[in-house]
Amino acid sequence: MEVIIQPSDESAAALVARIVAHDLRANPHLVLGLATGKTMERVYRQLVHFHKEQGLDFSLCRTFNLDEYVGLFPSDPHSYRHYMDQQLFRQVNIEPRNTHLPNGLATDLDDECRRYEALIQRFGGVDLQLLGIGRAGHIGFNEPLSALRSRTRVKALTPTTIRQNAPLFGGEERVPRRAITMGVGTIIEARRCVLLATGETKAEVVAQAVEGPITSMVTASALQLHPRCTVVVDEEAATRLKENDYYRWIFENEPEWEEYR
Ligand code: F6R
Repeated sequence: MEVIIQPSDESAAALVARIVAHDLRANPHLVLGLATGKTMERVYRQLVHFHKEQGLDFSLCRTFNLDEYVGLFPSDPHSYRHYMDQQLFRQVNIEPRNTHLPNGLATDLDDECRRYEALIQRFGGVDLQLLGIGRAGHIGFNEPLSALRSRTRVKALTPTTIRQNAPLFGGEERVPRRAITMGVGTIIEARRCVLLATGETKAEVVAQAVEGPITSMVTASALQLHPRCTVVVDEEAATRLKENDYYRWIFENEPEWEEYR
């Protein structure tokens, strides 16, 4: 795992967008794993900018989102399909049929989960997976005690997650109680993972995920098992990390990061 500390939430998101742009230019057929949430909005804004100003081409790329709420129509402004359409898909030249999210309205949800896993496999697996981290330490909706080898399935949301997402729904009682999410095992099979966390509310959970023990209580800690995972944080989210000097040295000196400095 590598940790990159950036001065601000804006520059942290810009760095993640540059990693996506770099990998997409290198491989126009990139299979891109996507996350939703507040943190990712800045990344998508930057990618839209790259598309409009620099011609970043999404026409051959295929996307798989981590998760979707159970019971929301795609047109529902709270659905992740709606979020992705607004934040990215409708603003770049991606083919709608190349964008995939789990169907939270499927009559047989278990079957839908199996279908989603099979589809990811059919397209050769995820090349680059973007991730946020919840205050409960989740990636996707892999709430505490999610098996570290779990696959795409239906998960009940924890009270912490419901509280975190309540402002977007206008109250806790309106937040769906369940979601379909890629499993931890599904996520860490991606060839590369990039997790973005910003703001002081994420500082404690970032430290647990990065420098704490691997535990299903903080499912993001499973990323420590991943051979190619980059965690990008701003100064606020980095405040509880112990090895900050080392992380800064890596970014300033390692050739891999030269083009990003
Ligand atoms: C959403 C997702 C979640 C979020 C996480 C952080 O698709 O997978 O794990 O990334 O809850 O959300 P924000 O950025 O809103 O704090």
